[in-house]
Amino acid sequence: MQAFRRRFVLTNQLLSLKEIIMTQVKSNKAKVAVIGLGNIGNAVASNLIKANRPVIVSDRKIAKAEELSQNLGNLAQPMEIPAAIKEADIIVFAIWFDAIKELLNKYATELQGKIIVDPSNPIAPDDKGGFKKIVGENESAGEILSSLLPKNAKLAKTLGTLGVASLAGAAFQKPEPAVLFYATDDTSINTDIEQLIRDNGFEPVRVGGIDQSIRIEVFGDLHEFGALGKTVTVQEAKEKLAEVSIEG
Ligand SMILES: NC(=O)c1ccc[n+]([C@@H]2O[C@H](COP(=O)([O-])OP(=O)(O)OC[C@H]3O[C@@H](n4cnc5c(N)ncnc54)[C@H](OP(=O)(O)O)[C@@H]3O)[C@@H](O)[C@H]2O)c1
Repeated sequence: MQAFRRRFVLTNQLLSLKEIIMTQVKSNKAKVAVIGLGNIGNAVASNLIKANRPVIVSDRKIAKAEELSQNLGNLAQPMEIPAAIKEADIIVFAIWFDAIKELLNKYATELQGKIIVDPSNPIAPDDKGGFKKIVGENESAGEILSSLLPKNAKLAKTLGTLGVASLAGAAFQKPEPAVLFYATDDTSINTDIEQLIRDNGFEPVRVGGIDQSIRIEVFGDLHEFGALGKTVTVQEAKEKLAEVSIEG
């Protein structure tokens, strides 16, 4: 009886693995790993699963990744950080700015040639109950991280241009999807990043190179917690971008 049960469990596990592989092969999309499973990591992984896209989930505590995978189902595969980086093509660092800097250095070899997604806002609590920038007034996390990239790695700044409530709540919005802005210097990754944003339930709008990161980080003119102040549709985003280029 026990041997039968073991065979039954093993067969089910193999079937699940097959489903994951088949979904990945059929979709022919880049493999995504989300590292850091707090507010943003949870929202991104959950959005991707809603779009039926497999995702590797990882955190410094593997138990957190395993628990999330149990909640999200077979398409969310838990892994330790080194394995997640090795396996994925796109690594979403859903962790704080200083921790991203640390991991870029620690996993410099494993990250070579990968697409790195930075959703971070370089902020910390001030002593008045709000937040303050922890980099220079005219600096951005995106630009600083781009100077620390491992060899041949490509950076996109995105997934952090909204607060987590909107990243989860405005995903797959109908009839008009909400926008997630992105910035990258490497236009060869535009298609992968735009697909990643669509699979999160948003429409992508590129604001330019990494030197535009400051605009889509907190306090920026295109951030929900900056001058924009809300989620926008593609039409509204384009109007906003046009306004700025006319003023400039
Ligand atoms: N929250 C928002 O509304 C929002 C909006 C836009 C952008 N962002 C940006 O998104 C990033 C994540 O924010 P969050 O609100 O999701 O933070 P969070 O809820 O604090 O989650 C961060 C997660 O990263 C893990 N972590 C920390 N250091 C790590 C390391 N060295 N290696 C692996 N995992 C590590 C934490 O694990 P432990 O629990 O063990 O510490 C935690 O699970 C930040 O850069 C933030 O600026 C946040």
